[in-house]
Amino acid sequence: MKIVICNSYDEMSMLGAKVIAGQILTKSNSVIGLATGSTPLGLYKNLIKMNKDGLLDFTDVTTFNLDEYYPIDPKDKNSYRRFMDENLFNHINIKKENAHVLNGAAQDYEKECEEYDNNIRAHGGIDVMLLGIGRNGHIGFNEPNESLVSATHRQILTENTRDANSRFFSGIDEVPKAALTMGMGTIIKESKKIILLASGKDKHEAVKGLVSGNITSNDPASYLNLHKDVTLFLDKEAFNG
Ligand code: GLP
Repeated sequence: MKIVICNSYDEMSMLGAKVIAGQILTKSNSVIGLATGSTPLGLYKNLIKMNKDGLLDFTDVTTFNLDEYYPIDPKDKNSYRRFMDENLFNHINIKKENAHVLNGAAQDYEKECEEYDNNIRAHGGIDVMLLGIGRNGHIGFNEPNESLVSATHRQILTENTRDANSRFFSGIDEVPKAALTMGMGTIIKESKKIILLASGKDKHEAVKGLVSGNITSNDPASYLNLHKDVTLFLDKEAFNG
């Protein structure tokens, strides 16, 4: 695992964006895994600017997002589909049909999850997977537990995560109780390269668990130690606490 300590959130966002841009410049039909949350917003702004400046072309790019609340209408203002449309997809020249987000309104969530994994495999896997990290070490919506589900699946959210995400809603009661998420197995097996961004003191404990090298289902991020090409981009607060 490589660790890059960044001087600021902006530096972290630029270095992360350069990894994704470099991948797309090397292979125009790259498959990129994407995350939601506040952390990648700066990175997305950089990708938008590169696209608007004519430096980066998304015409042949395919993306797969990590997770989505369940159940949720994709048009709901709090859906991750809306988040991605508003913060990235609407501002770049990606074809909407190539920008995949799990369907939070799917009747049969097991079928939705199975088809999502099949679709990732049919695309030959993910060239670069972008991750954030939850305060409790969750990745996507893989929550700490006695055991983890490897494949993409429905996950009941912990109070910790619902509390952390309630800032986007009018209150914690509005936060959905479950989500669909790529499993840690999908992330590790299907990604050729993984980059994880973490910013701020709040993330220090989670980062500490990850870099300790101890692998436990109580810390889903720790499973990233099983992957051979992971780079962490951390600001000083996330690294030092
Ligand atoms: C959510 C997402 C995660 C994300 C995490 C951290 O729970 N499902 O994919 O990594 O929040 O978000 P933030 O970057 O806002 O701290």
